[in-house]
Order: sequence, then C-alpha cells, then structure tokens
Amino acid sequence: MSRPIGIFDSGIGGLTVASAIKKALPGESIIYFGDTAHVPYGDKSKELIAHYAVRITDFLLQEKNCKAIVIACNTASAAAYEHLRDQHRGSIPVINVIDPMIEEVIATDAVKHVGIIATKTTIGSGVYQEKFSRRKPGLKFSAMATPLLAQMIEEGFYNNSISEAVLGEYLGDDMLKDIDGLVLACTHYPLIKKEIDAYYQGKVKIFDSAEVVAKKLRAILEKENLLNTSQAGEDHFFVSDYTKSFEEATRIFFQKVVKLERSGIWDDTTTSM
Ligand code: DGL
Repeated sequence: MSRPIGIFDSGIGGLTVASAIKKALPGESIIYFGDTAHVPYGDKSKELIAHYAVRITDFLLQEKNCKAIVIACNTASAAAYEHLRDQHRGSIPVINVIDPMIEEVIATDAVKHVGIIATKTTIGSGVYQEKFSRRKPGLKFSAMATPLLAQMIEEGFYNNSISEAVLGEYLGDDMLKDIDGLVLACTHYPLIKKEIDAYYQGKVKIFDSAEVVAKKLRAILEKENLLNTSQAGEDHFFVSDYTKSFEEATRIFFQKVVKLERSGIWDDTTTSM
C-alpha cells in the first residue's frame, strides 16, 4: 500500500527512528513531524503532551493520509500511546518506542542491572519501571531523569567538550554505579551513543530503540498487509517552527539536503508562536 508512514517527535530525536525505518523498509515513504515549536516535551505535563500528540496524529492521518503512526518519542509514548491506540483501534496501527525496547532488554539475559535515562516526564510516568518489574521481576533497574540532554542535543551540542562534561556529570551519578546495561529511553540520545559508549569503554551494553522499533513496524505492516509493493513516494519533513539544528540533523541522517516544510497546525492556537 503506497500510503506513507507518519512519524513524530518533539524535534530531531525521532529522526534516529525515521532513519532506521528507511533502512529496514526502503520501499516505504515517510512523513516526519518534528514539533519544534514545543520542544522539549520532557518537562511538560502528560496532559499537554497528549494534546500535542493527538493534534499531530490528526494532521498525519487526515491531511497526509498515513497508513501507520510511529510515536518516535518516549515522552509522547509515555503520555499518549494508550489514548492514541484506543482512539484509532481497528483503523490504523499505532506504534510506540517503549514496548519494543522493553522486549529487547528483557530478552538480554546477560544484563542484570539496567540503568534507564530519559526525560523527567518519561521517568516520572514510571512506565519503564512498571513494565520491567512486571515482565522481569529479577531484573534490577535504576531510573534517572537527565533533563539537560535532549535540549543540549536539539541545540546541536554533541561530540564536543560541553556534551562530554554534561554526560560525565549524569553518568557518574551513584545511582548508575554497577549497571551492566543502559537504556537510552529518549530518541534524542542515540546521537550521543558513541560518547556514552566511550564513557563506559564498551563495558556497559547500550540499548537504543531505533532498530527494534523499525523491526517491530516491519512485522506489523507485514501482518496487516500494509507493506508497499509499488515504488516509494517522496519523504516529507514537517516542523512546527524552523530551526537550523533540525535542518543539519536531517542532512546528517539522510545524507542529502532535506527540504523542511513548515506546518502551521498550531497557528490557530495561543499555545505558541
Ligand atoms: N525525543 C524525546 C523522547 O524520546 C523527547 C525529548 C524532549 O522533547 O524532551 O523522549
């Protein structure tokens, strides 16, 4: 089916997932929405994030005719997945980034004590903690909010002395002492995965959701007979506010200059802009 896949995040983080999806499913076209007018989501209330997620999903479905929705953001997955899934049950599949990650971690027997780093809203929602306790009672976990990271990455600070110092501060926290696995529970964090790996000198297994989510999406599209069998259409990247770092990140991920389109979905509201 030649309809596109709708993918959204607060900003550039979901591009890590979008790029894995393009690799796993080269025949599919995507419509990406980065809600740059409202980034970061990670310090906002669940209610506000759910409001954003519902509106963006409506845009992707009604205006862009998407055949599946990928919530490429842990914070929005924690705040709005169940609502979106129930709202669209029976019409289109909605995929979140948390469940495929939980599956991956619990299947990795070598990991006994896993650290979870994410935004304040994701950690505060308790979703990872609840799922790990229920699905693998013997697994020790330590969840820590790292609120500076997404904003730092969104502003283009990675692979430099600032990101190294901020990361050193967070990862050096006592709470993460003795971990043998670390969940990057924010889709912005794969952009600093190399730095995190270097910090642990390869001794801690780092989990990021991009590939597992792409694999999950592929399985769902196959099962629901939604895979595209004709030629892939064009990809489109929408932002709710133009940012230079977004344009640079799309170029890095997709290895070509990507034309950003501004969507005015918030223009008739007073929440921003
Ligand atoms: N990329 C997002 C996540 O996975 C959100 C970052 C933010 O906007 O705070 O949680």
